[in-house]
Amino acid sequence: MRIIFYSPDNHIQAWLDGFTALMPEAQLHVWREGDERAAAIAADYAILWRPPAALLQGRSDLKAIFNLGAGVDAILKLGSALPANVPIIRLDDAGMGVQMAEYVSHAVLRYMRRFDEYELQRSSKQWQFLPPHEKQDFTVGILGIGVLGKRIAAALAQFELPVRSWSRNPKSLPGITCFDGTDGLDQFLSGTRVLVCALPLTSDTENILDRATLSKLPRGAYLINVARGGHLAEAELLALIRSGHIAGATLDVFRHEPLPQQHPFWDEPRITITPHMAATTLRNDSIPQIVGKIRALERGEAVAGVVDRDAGY
Ligand code: NAP
Ligand code: GLV
Repeated sequence: MRIIFYSPDNHIQAWLDGFTALMPEAQLHVWREGDERAAAIAADYAILWRPPAALLQGRSDLKAIFNLGAGVDAILKLGSALPANVPIIRLDDAGMGVQMAEYVSHAVLRYMRRFDEYELQRSSKQWQFLPPHEKQDFTVGILGIGVLGKRIAAALAQFELPVRSWSRNPKSLPGITCFDGTDGLDQFLSGTRVLVCALPLTSDTENILDRATLSKLPRGAYLINVARGGHLAEAELLALIRSGHIAGATLDVFRHEPLPQQHPFWDEPRITITPHMAATTLRNDSIPQIVGKIRALERGEAVAGVVDRDAGY
């Protein structure tokens, strides 16, 4: 079995060693731009992250393409360069769910328990009790209740926070008030105090966090974006924070990453910035998942995580 591997990650050897340990029969070829030998090798599978178009152009020999992440926006952007009938398989949690749950719980609790304000007080040696926010007024609304959204919801439920979700298809999930579709969005937003974006970036969801959407949240709402920078109209968020409609935001993803030095977000203390680290791809979880799926495909079995190219996720 031949596998093409491509990742901008610096730890390629560790990935190769991990795959070889579990699949000694496989021949792994690292694809590098301009390497014609690798381009000419017929292969059964490709395992990759943010590939250049040249890697996949005309590769109808592949049985499947494994995406080394949950989001497939970067690969689907290749459009007609993608071989039409080759399934694309995304990572299915693979250790990202618990990381997302940690990240979002931290951001929600920090805002709810007023830690930002206590930190400010500390800088001027102030000992001042701040009345807590009431839990029943602290509904967390999660946009996207897929693999990662569900883990976030389960973590927040542990703190007895009211949780609601918004998805494309109707859902019924224990302990969660579920909304769906364009018709359900306004009602979902009007009762959401902390908005968490865990959507895939598609033509339907791009710019969803714009002035129109964010204005439908109650005054004083808080935003957490752990999905993609393309979801957020950045200047519109800034204007809503400055007007007081939005209290602040925790943002892990941006239109341009790394966030440019001159970006106004850096100067807005009500915005917490992290460098796209909410949930990273973990080698020790991803390799066994992919190997398990390759073995299942070789036996002719169906696998989870196959991307619906029309839906865009
Ligand atoms: P997923 O399992 O595919 O779930 C996607 C959810 O979004 C589903 O609930 C889906 O609805 C909903 N959705 C999609 N399009 C929609 C639309 N037009 N309207 C309403 N709901 C819509 O994805 P996931 O594994 O949870 O990952 C979500 C995203 O997180 C990824 O695509 C990626 O961009 C991002 N991510 C970020 C990081 C980071 O470190 N910041 C790490 C990993 C992933 P249905 O349930 O009805 O299909
Ligand atoms: C990371 O952002 C991912 O989509 O896995």
